[in-house]
Amino acid sequence: MTSRAISPDLPAALRAALEARLQGVSRNAAAERAAAISRTYRDGGGSTAIAGEIDALAYALARMPATYAADIASLNALVEIRPDFAPASLLDIGAGPGTATWAAAEAFASLKSFVLLDANEALRKLALDLAGDHGRQITYQRGEARGLLAKADAADLVIASYVIGEMGEAERTALAALMWEKTRGTLLVVEPGTPAGYARIIALRQQLIAAGAHAAAPCPHDGLCPLTSRDWCHFTQRLQRSRAHKQLKGAEVPFEDEKFAYVALSRAPVGPRPSRVLAQPAVGKAEVSAKLCTPAGLEMARIPRRDKQAYAEARRWRWGDAVMEQDAIPGRAGEGRDP
Ligand SMILES: C[S@@+](CC[C@H](N)C(=O)[O-])C[C@H]1O[C@@H](n2cnc3c(N)ncnc32)[C@H](O)[C@@H]1O
Repeated sequence: MTSRAISPDLPAALRAALEARLQGVSRNAAAERAAAISRTYRDGGGSTAIAGEIDALAYALARMPATYAADIASLNALVEIRPDFAPASLLDIGAGPGTATWAAAEAFASLKSFVLLDANEALRKLALDLAGDHGRQITYQRGEARGLLAKADAADLVIASYVIGEMGEAERTALAALMWEKTRGTLLVVEPGTPAGYARIIALRQQLIAAGAHAAAPCPHDGLCPLTSRDWCHFTQRLQRSRAHKQLKGAEVPFEDEKFAYVALSRAPVGPRPSRVLAQPAVGKAEVSAKLCTPAGLEMARIPRRDKQAYAEARRWRWGDAVMEQDAIPGRAGEGRDP
């Protein structure tokens, strides 16, 4: 399947606005704050370490490119499945510096209204400045997500990007129900591509499918996830690193691979759903083998070279791609299908 894919790299205007704010700030101080913030994240402290202007900037420079890339990859997958979806309003839950708002605005020119909710004042201020520099009108309310959301108007598109991992289970379950209540079209939830991030996504998916949601992406069905324990559904998105990004992360290589897990849940039933490539396919001389999640379950597909057209097609498959059944190959050897 193909559709117009948006670049995972930060829009030039956003990157320039972030880097301009770094003028006059010691790079070492910013890098130290970015490192301290990531340590707090790793220790389970969430974004509590982001306390002031430099912290917010350091966090945004270090993490916004990767979370933006994961948001764009998820939105690209959604648009591929629902090319007719044209949301006018967005609710960005736990918006931080406004990452998902920037990504959604790139993906949907139809968006007119942007409402962002977050508890962190330093990130709120940065998000307002960045949006203002770009001439984008946003409403950004500060406070507990659940309380603010209960009073918010419903939106066509609701996004929670890298947020639900900062909450305990009971709060997460209650927030998921409320986010769904406020979703008129599609709810997108993105998490780090770790087993724990996947577990949160899969629990939310199950909870909301039971409440009437339909999986638009990445899943090709609304049934239970067919992956068994020790396996987890996640994807990877490569993004380019700017000089400031490399300096802040103390990195040498000019790119980063962000691993993420996501689910896009839709109110409207989803038409014929494509299979999803769950890992980078192995391309050999004799065959391409690919791990697919299909509408009928998990499948290890083997596409032999003798099926020339099918083999050529499968050679182009990438981890995360959607593969329509009509692209599926006559004579494909399937193994390990779970009903
Ligand atoms: C890792 S940051 C992600 C920010 C942004 N969504 C992104 O993708 O870059 C998590 C954000 O969620 C916010 N957050 C976490 N729990 C929250 C809650 N209960 N109420 C409001 N905001 C919350 C934090 O303040 C922080 O800005």
